[in-house]
Amino acid sequence: MTWWHDAVFYQIYPRSFLDTDGDGVGDLGGILKKMPYLAWLGVDALWITPIYPSPMRDFSYDISDYCDVDPLFGTLDDFDQIIAKAHEAGIHVILDWVPNHTSSDHPWFQEARSSRTNPKRDWYVWKEPTSDGKLPNNWLRSWSDQPAWTLDDETGQFYLHCFLPEQPDLNWANIDVRDAMAETLRFWLRRGIDGFRMDVVHLIGKDPAMPDDPEDLVAIGHVPLNDRPEAHVYLKGIRKVLEEFDGERTSVGEVYLLDPEVVATYYGQADELHMSFNFASLFTPWRAASWVETITRTESSHNAVGAWPTWTLSNHDNKRIASRLDGDPMKTRSAAILVLTLRGTPFLYAGEELGLEDAIIPPERVVDPGLRDPCRAPLPWTNERLHGWPSDPWLPFAERPNDFSVETQEHDSASMLNFVRSLLSIRKASTALRQGSLNELRDDNGVLHYRRESSDEVVDVYINFAKEPRPITFLPGSTWLLSSSGVKVPASGQLLLVPGDSVIVRVSP
Ligand code: GLC
Repeated sequence: MTWWHDAVFYQIYPRSFLDTDGDGVGDLGGILKKMPYLAWLGVDALWITPIYPSPMRDFSYDISDYCDVDPLFGTLDDFDQIIAKAHEAGIHVILDWVPNHTSSDHPWFQEARSSRTNPKRDWYVWKEPTSDGKLPNNWLRSWSDQPAWTLDDETGQFYLHCFLPEQPDLNWANIDVRDAMAETLRFWLRRGIDGFRMDVVHLIGKDPAMPDDPEDLVAIGHVPLNDRPEAHVYLKGIRKVLEEFDGERTSVGEVYLLDPEVVATYYGQADELHMSFNFASLFTPWRAASWVETITRTESSHNAVGAWPTWTLSNHDNKRIASRLDGDPMKTRSAAILVLTLRGTPFLYAGEELGLEDAIIPPERVVDPGLRDPCRAPLPWTNERLHGWPSDPWLPFAERPNDFSVETQEHDSASMLNFVRSLLSIRKASTALRQGSLNELRDDNGVLHYRRESSDEVVDVYINFAKEPRPITFLPGSTWLLSSSGVKVPASGQLLLVPGDSVIVRVSP
């Protein structure tokens, strides 16, 4: 077991975390300022989403320089300070890395598009129009029904972009691309970064034949055709770069292929990704039977190849968990219990500890081409008009910001924030929860139950997904650790668990 098996990761979308220079956009200064808060909360590692120089069409997921920080966010020196301060507090830091595409402003693409014979031409994916002048295939780009190809008028060929036309796909089949991208990893590894979250990393392996998507897949784009053997070859190379450095550097891949069985293959033989997001959990309905299925499939597929699972309920691309649960505070707490007690590494999204909901974005404030603004609303720190931000932030706050603010919640022992903080400290103190096996998974008439077991400890978790109260009988000697409603386990060992509530008990020692 290494640090990242044990760690709880906390995802920071810097634009929305906290601004310190008054331009309305969160920055590295905001992360530095809140380092004491993060240490107090008790998270073990930060995943910082892109802060690279970028024309910001996809908010720095369109990178024009992999080895610098956009002035909007700060400087390389600020980033070094974040690593230093986090490490001082015992917190690891990983950075987002975007291997599939660059910005069209990146000098590599500028060179590549300058002529068909430019040495960097083949760094991107170019295709001739068909003989009747049409698109090379029927692939669509993300977030629209538009083609994944744009014709470069000057040179008369189409280039591929799985996302925006301003995000051309790199050609990983070209060894020079692989070498150049390895250098971008080394740049940050030398600065002391603990690893990377790797953006849509399954897409780097592309079928050279580029066949049409089957008709029934066109609506969800070409992605299914890009679960390719080539990606695994490139990932082995990437892993080797991380292993050139000491200190257990790690990787977590955004493998946006929703089957846990497919996701598990991206760990290779412990020679590809260290971890991969398992997004089945983002789409599992709030039903005990559905969770039994997701957990069973994750456990069996990952165990079969020795892969360490990850769990996540929210991120900067999807509706926040509190909003998915219609703002039900008890269920939102139970969801936190779920994500922090399953076997594997949990990833929390900043604001999840506050039970933050998505914002309502008026049409004139929409800025994201993928319409993901609601889950990117700024964090409310205080109860003043600007909630701790020096000026109006780039997106509106979620409704009822004072209910969700850190100021309101930090001194209220019954708040979601203090609940999550307790949960993190219970997890930290429990070998069973951090490292134990997961057994006795079942759906008992709407109550999800599982047991976490290590050599020195046994912990049981019960979550009532049913719409009615359900009786639970605890093993003699069980000690109460936490429940969503605050209800304690009575001496009788019998408890009626109300709908949405959940409870964690230590069975032994
Ligand atoms: C990933 C990121 C998303 C980004 C996309 C393109 O899905 O999470 O935010 O827009 O890749 O880079």
